[in-house]
Amino acid sequence: MKSALALVAVLAVMALAAADDEKYTTKYDNIDLDEILANDSLMHQYELCLTEEDDSSCTPEGKELKKDIPDALENDCAKCNDKQKEATRKVIKFLINQKPETWHKLKEHYDKDGKYSEKYKKLEDELKE
Ligand SMILES: *[C@@H]1O[C@H](CO)[C@@H](O)[C@H](O)[C@H]1NC(C)=O
Repeated sequence: MKSALALVAVLAVMALAAADDEKYTTKYDNIDLDEILANDSLMHQYELCLTEEDDSSCTPEGKELKKDIPDALENDCAKCNDKQKEATRKVIKFLINQKPETWHKLKEHYDKDGKYSEKYKKLEDELKE
């Protein structure tokens, strides 16, 4: 009985630790970003995926991205690994400077009340060329 309780306690602690340490999938970390950013039809596809209600335009990684964006915005990419943080900066920088229309659409979609534009204003200024 005593050991069963101890086991439950250990499992509970492990579950908490796991939840705390939760990260986004690294499954797509080796994707070739430059190739995607340079490919207008792919970029358009991602834009549709990310801004439409349904997921019918989404590739598997687009779907994953779509699922994680609201959370990443809310928590400063807290569940991103370094590679994902770097990739996020790169994509945002590209969108701000090269695809302002897409950037605008994404903002309208993910930041309807301007909350994150406020929160991340410094980052946006920093990335703007
Ligand atoms: C863009 O990506 C699509 C899908 O992967 C591919 O079929 C197409 O050839 C690419 N276009 C260019 C210009 O690389």
